[in-house]
Amino acid sequence: MVRHPPTGKDRRSYRGRFKLSGTMTEGEDTGTRRESHMMSSSSHTQPLFADRHIGPDADELARILGVIGVASLDELAHHAVPASIADPVDGGVPTGLAVLPEPLSEEEATGRLRELADRNTVRRSMIGLGYYGTHTPGVIRRNILENPAWYTAYTPYQPEISQGRLEALLNFQTMVADLTGMAVANASMLDEATAAAEAMTLMLRATKNKSRRLIVDADLFPQTRAVIETRAEPLGIEVVTAELDPAIEGAGLPPGDFYGVITQVPGASGRLVDAGPIIAAAHERDAMVAVGVDLLAATLVTPPGEQGADACFGTTQRFGVPMGFGGPHAGYLTVNTALTRQLPGRLVGVSKDADDNIGYRLSLQTREQHIRRERATSNICTAQVLLAIIAAMYASYHGPDGLRAIARRTHARATRIAAALGDAVVHQNFFDTVLTQVPGKAAAVVAAARERDIDLRLVDDDRVTIACDETTTDADVAAVVDAFAAAGTGIEGRDEWTGPGIETRSGDFLTHPAFHRHRTETAMLRYLRALSDKDIALDRSMIPLGSCTMKLNATTEMEPITWPEFANLHPFAAAEDTEGIRALIGELSEWLAAITGYDKVSLQPNAGSQGEYAGLLAIRRYHLDRGDAQRDICLIPASAHGTNAASAVMAGMRVVVVACRENGDVDTEDLAAKIAEHGANLAATMITYPSTHGVFEDAIGEICAAVHDAGGQVYIDGANLNALVGVARPGHFGGDVSHLNLHKTFCIPHGGGGPGVGPIGVREHLAPYLPGHPLAPELSDELTVSAAPYGSASILPITYAYILMMGAAGLRRATLSAIASANYIARRLGDHYPVLYTGDGGWVAHECILDLRELTKQTGVTVDDVAKRLADYGFHAPTMSFPVAGTLMVEPTESENLEELDAFCDAMIAIRAEIDRVGAGEWPVEDNPLRGAPHTTECLVGEWDHPYTREEAVYPNGLPSAGNRTKVWPAVRRIDGAFGDRNLVCSCPPIESFAE
Ligand SMILES: Cc1ncc(COP(=O)(O)O)c(C=O)c1O
Repeated sequence: MVRHPPTGKDRRSYRGRFKLSGTMTEGEDTGTRRESHMMSSSSHTQPLFADRHIGPDADELARILGVIGVASLDELAHHAVPASIADPVDGGVPTGLAVLPEPLSEEEATGRLRELADRNTVRRSMIGLGYYGTHTPGVIRRNILENPAWYTAYTPYQPEISQGRLEALLNFQTMVADLTGMAVANASMLDEATAAAEAMTLMLRATKNKSRRLIVDADLFPQTRAVIETRAEPLGIEVVTAELDPAIEGAGLPPGDFYGVITQVPGASGRLVDAGPIIAAAHERDAMVAVGVDLLAATLVTPPGEQGADACFGTTQRFGVPMGFGGPHAGYLTVNTALTRQLPGRLVGVSKDADDNIGYRLSLQTREQHIRRERATSNICTAQVLLAIIAAMYASYHGPDGLRAIARRTHARATRIAAALGDAVVHQNFFDTVLTQVPGKAAAVVAAARERDIDLRLVDDDRVTIACDETTTDADVAAVVDAFAAAGTGIEGRDEWTGPGIETRSGDFLTHPAFHRHRTETAMLRYLRALSDKDIALDRSMIPLGSCTMKLNATTEMEPITWPEFANLHPFAAAEDTEGIRALIGELSEWLAAITGYDKVSLQPNAGSQGEYAGLLAIRRYHLDRGDAQRDICLIPASAHGTNAASAVMAGMRVVVVACRENGDVDTEDLAAKIAEHGANLAATMITYPSTHGVFEDAIGEICAAVHDAGGQVYIDGANLNALVGVARPGHFGGDVSHLNLHKTFCIPHGGGGPGVGPIGVREHLAPYLPGHPLAPELSDELTVSAAPYGSASILPITYAYILMMGAAGLRRATLSAIASANYIARRLGDHYPVLYTGDGGWVAHECILDLRELTKQTGVTVDDVAKRLADYGFHAPTMSFPVAGTLMVEPTESENLEELDAFCDAMIAIRAEIDRVGAGEWPVEDNPLRGAPHTTECLVGEWDHPYTREEAVYPNGLPSAGNRTKVWPAVRRIDGAFGDRNLVCSCPPIESFAE
């Protein structure tokens, strides 16, 4: 028999993974013992999912606990978590979580999700309103959306190991800028409606016009208007609706002053107008203009960028991203050159690396909210990277000609419907959506269409719209026409549509080779593979990013999101057709409420930042309704994530910073002083728990009580909930509202920078102020924060499956395992890099901060050098310089096994030895393996005149052939960030530049 030769690493046995460790007896249980009540009926022969999800097995856990000096996970909880907040546990189940179902096996969970999926009815959706059927090319679905190399990557903050997704995002930016005819696009927005709201504030920031009135076209999508109105109110922007019409004098702009205009082509009614005269009329009145643009229509119609628009916004959903009951999809925002530095969100730019080769990176990084806090231009952080990449690849795969052909086909189907419906058609100029006037018969038409398995949009009693898309077939056209006849509309059709042609766009677009080279499946497949090979995602190594919780995104959790019964639902489809997803949303909301200790949960916010914003809006409304309009002060500790302050400003609050103590805790004396100073003006405090310093602060109860006593509300930022689930509940220890990042704690993959889901939980008194939606009758119609009623609904099955498979005890075990592993790393690395903050007894929570500042002072080696050197060792760097400059924050999560934890610690210890060699003068500070990192294959083939060897440069773990860790080769050397910012290029560089 041929066997693998034993290697050093294989010496560790995996004994005990699926059974009780033989080395332990009753009473010595480390917490991995399976309780009989945790077992599902069929799981006797199956390992528990928790055993698949949690990295360390029983033996490994015993060793971890041994190093940190406790006998069990429960003992760890006792030491690390303040007794004042810890939930009681009964038979392994935390009391608050008793309502969670018994854990299911992977097969059972899949079966349960299948049952839910089967309760959805997918009809041909012709509802439109910004959501359209689309064919996701198989090569893109399988190799991006279903491929962990893409979906498990993190935001590309470490550009040298993120060149693949950065290039893909640059394609996205180029595509959107080209199609809208604008100079610069950012790397995605959360959805169309929030992009429009960002355009509103962008124009306000940029204009010299002193007015705070905004004119909004009456033909905007209702959800876009709703989000704009929500955002406008706290900022004191007056939103005025007007029927804009390029054909009339002054384009229908109302009298009086206004600073900006927002319009949309085509409109919600399908009306396609020439935006040019509207833009010109607004400019004459000293107002800026943002235009919502349908990118498919823009392949045929003159784009507003060529007509002088200041900004364009929209969605890229119909470029291959399934509707998914509302999301996630990549929104976009483009601006003219003058506004580039006002653009919110992330912007990928071109720079050069240490060898003068092209390298991509996030440009103007100082704009990130982490750094700019209350001076941030917006609170957007996590965006929609994965979906942006899909849309960009869809454009690459089809190319400009293919996109134009899809647009023509879509338009042709719409014109055939319009011809058949003759005089009932309201607007003669349309792209894909036909508005019909059928007095008194609208409901009958919609019902007749439903009988034919088609969903149309009921506008009112007399009007119906029909939206075509790339999936509309001849049979659909015939069925729609048939439905109008069956409803007794008595419409006389015409043989042919005689309306005006719409193809006004001239000139080429998407001329870059990125949109021409990958038209065959083979070429696309290899392109995607080549790009993902440049990146470190979770499929290659642990990603120990503090505050980011890069844990397993299990396949069983991921699979249902591409099932058509979840993927192909329109967000405004009838409730009876969406029973399954609604049931899932209902159950998941209840589970999350139980886990957090709140009374009610909204799943609408589509990122943590949006949850913060929605939660603060709820607080604001609560105060207003109680006659406390003066309460607008938000106290935020200095250590908070920058989105906190940015969200507070967006919610109309004034930020007051509370100091932190030397040990990282909130300075309760300063807090008391600030509370006293602001007294009756205090609206809220935002506090992250456990803190961004990775510590469970004992004073949390005291802090919450002090704020409540002063009449303020407590917002607990739940981004660090991975240290709390099954251990303590923010709704019980003092929070009034929290957001959770499902893309951290609850297994939604980070997607290279999104999607995310940022639900909020609130206590009863804030429940009336949860986000509503104008098109969801079951919700209020106020405080809308996302385009879709349930935000990024199609990825909720991931979290649902996770909770279903883990069960209450499994969730608690995951939390405590994450805390155990963080403490293990703190112990192993503490002698080499001081751990900056610990709680009482020297414990950290689920992450720890390694302080490099003294080492930097002594040796000149920076935190950047260490981060880049880790890439040579095959690791993604920890979080760099947040929340404290000059430090690294490490979060291992529960999913990493001991072998990986040790490999990371070994790498960090080896790096420390390298730093010492620099400190000892053996290597100069400007030329050593750290400063030279990362090293590429190419840098080996030229001259080598460094004081360290090639082998030291690229094989610091030792040679792979000797059984050492597989080498990951960074694609570029260290990237010069400042150069990129000085020479800002944010679209694909000409291909020749690669040859230089
Ligand atoms: C503590 C904290 N709060 C809020 C956020 C914002 O969440 P998101 O990026 O989903 O908008 C983050 C994200 O990293 C965070 O770490």
